[in-house]
Amino acid sequence: MLAIADVSRETAQKVSERCGIPRVAEHAEEILANPDVEAVLVCSPTETHADLVVKAAKAGKHIFCEKPIAHSLPKIDQALLAVKDAGVKLQIGFNRRFDANFARVREAVTNGEIGKPQMMHIISRDPAPPTISYIKVSGGIFMDMTIHDFDMARFLIGDEVESIYTAAAVKVDPEIGKAGDLDTALIVLQFKNEVIGTIDNSRKAVYGYDQRVEILGSDGAIATANCYPNQAVISNAYRIQRDLPLNFFMDRYTDSFVAEMRAFVTAVLQNKPTPVTGIDGRMAAVMGLAARKSFDERRPVRLEEVAQA
Ligand SMILES: NC(=O)c1ccc[n+]([C@@H]2O[C@H](COP(=O)([O-])OP(=O)(O)OC[C@H]3O[C@@H](n4cnc5c(N)ncnc54)[C@H](O)[C@@H]3O)[C@@H](O)[C@H]2O)c1
Repeated sequence: MLAIADVSRETAQKVSERCGIPRVAEHAEEILANPDVEAVLVCSPTETHADLVVKAAKAGKHIFCEKPIAHSLPKIDQALLAVKDAGVKLQIGFNRRFDANFARVREAVTNGEIGKPQMMHIISRDPAPPTISYIKVSGGIFMDMTIHDFDMARFLIGDEVESIYTAAAVKVDPEIGKAGDLDTALIVLQFKNEVIGTIDNSRKAVYGYDQRVEILGSDGAIATANCYPNQAVISNAYRIQRDLPLNFFMDRYTDSFVAEMRAFVTAVLQNKPTPVTGIDGRMAAVMGLAARKSFDERRPVRLEEVAQA
């Protein structure tokens, strides 16, 4: 039994036709009430996630939930408690863990191929900012965009961050500033295992989606470059050039979206733990809250200051 619901029936209809989903339900509750449904994907706007997760857990469904779980820790904890009480599986949509480049970096760290990690750099710049109406409900750059990089940092290093220092600004669009948000940020991470890391974010890189990481270790370094639609290099008497990188997440991360969904379905079918847990979702949100607090108070913030709030 496969079904889709959306507050816009027209949207649900279009997606059902495009993806071959046989049934369009009137609302999410109709799907949750169906005993033939084993698992649900919560891909609606962030402010709806926590309530839907609670309802789905109470209905005994396994849950895939897009990032972030919610914008506030009480809401996140409410959702995680419902999941725990119901004993259902929860996977959070940190798809980048399933990207072949980043998975290889993690593998190199795990295998000791670069010795003991010392420094980590994540560059994560979007080609263009979202609409101002999206910015207003996004929870801010750290909860909406950097949250992927916070998860990536924990994933690559395999340890928790102790404190965060944020320098940030509005450089791309003053309207983003008027909406109370930021569009440019440099974040310094201090890990518990003493690795030092940076995250470099911009809502607008004119040359396209810029997604790179580098880790320096005691025995070497590992780095990943951007992904391109082709490998052609054009050389003439004046310059050597190539086409721009894959433009945005739907192109750059297509394979990772498929792989994360495979991993979720496998976890449900084989009754195994999901590879990206509710705790992973919570930790990334804690880091997002700490990053904003650091910017607001112009000082490094220990994660425990935020997590205990
Ligand atoms: N993992 C990623 O790379 C990635 C990328 C983009 C968005 N996201 C996340 O996915 C979520 C959705 O983002 P989006 O940009 O697609 O949002 P969106 O505003 O386009 O909404 C998605 C759909 O949800 C529907 N909707 C709204 N309220 C609903 C409800 N109560 N029940 C059912 N459907 C409802 C809307 O009509 C819309 O069709 C967000 O949480 C966002 O953070 C993740």
